[in-house]
Amino acid sequence: MTQNIFIYQSNNMGINHYFSADPEKRAKFIFNLIAPIYGRLDKYVESGFEKAKSILKENIDIKGTTVLDIGTGTGAWASVYSKAGAKKVTGVDFSEKMLAEARKNHPNIDFFYSDAKNLTNIDDNQYEIVTSSFVLHGTKRAERKKILSEMERVSRKYVVIHDFVGKTPIVIKILEWLERSDFVNFKRTFRDEMKDFFNHTFLFKVGKGTGIYVGVVEQRAEDK
Ligand SMILES: C[S@@+](CC[C@H](N)C(=O)[O-])C[C@H]1O[C@@H](n2cnc3c(N)ncnc32)[C@H](O)[C@@H]1O
Repeated sequence: MTQNIFIYQSNNMGINHYFSADPEKRAKFIFNLIAPIYGRLDKYVESGFEKAKSILKENIDIKGTTVLDIGTGTGAWASVYSKAGAKKVTGVDFSEKMLAEARKNHPNIDFFYSDAKNLTNIDDNQYEIVTSSFVLHGTKRAERKKILSEMERVSRKYVVIHDFVGKTPIVIKILEWLERSDFVNFKRTFRDEMKDFFNHTFLFKVGKGTGIYVGVVEQRAEDK
C-alpha cells in the first residue's frame, strides 16, 4: 500500500488518469508509471530489436545519417540507429519519466520532451530519417494522422515505423487491451493510411507479429 502511494506520487498523475476519457492522459499515466521497469529492461528490449536492425540495414543506408526517434521511451530503438552508424541520433517523448531512463541508458544520444502530434522547434526536413517504434498502434487514427504528418514534415528521406503487423501473440494482445490501444485497427489500415502521405511505401516483415513500414519522402517543391 505504502509502495503504491509512493508510485502514484512519484508519477505526479493520479490513478484517475488511467480511466480518463482522454487517451493522451491515459498513455502518459501508463508510461510514467512503468518507466522505471522499462528502463531496467532497456538492454533486453534492444536485444529483441536485433532482427529488425539487420532488416533495416539491408534496406536503408543508415551510416552517417541524422535520425529522429519519436516516442523514444527508454531509447532502445534510437540506440539501434546509433549502433548502426548514424551520425547523430535524437529521441523525443512526452513522458518525462521515460526520458529520464533514456538519458541514463544512452548518454551518447540527445533526448528531449516533445509531443509527436506537434513537433514544435523542429524544422521541416531537419532529419534524414524520422522513425518510431511501437508508438503509432497505441493512438487512434486521427491522432496517427497528425503524428505521421509531423514525421513526414521533419523528414527529408525516410519515415520508418517499427510496429505490429499480422498475427499478434496472446500475451501482447492482453497488454494492448490493458493499454486500450488501437492495434487491431492499426494492423488493418495503417499501410493505407501511409499512402495519404507517401507515393512509395514498403513493408518488411520482421517476425513474431512485427514489421517495418517505410515511407519514402518526396523532395518538396521548394527544395528542388
Ligand atoms: C511502447 S513505448 C515504446 C518505446 C520505444 N519506442 C521502444 O520501442 O522501446 C511508447 C512510447 O511512446 C510515447 N508516446 C506515446 N504517444 C506519444 C506522443 N503523442 N508524443 C510523444 N511520445 C509519445 C510514450 O510515452 C512511450 O514512451
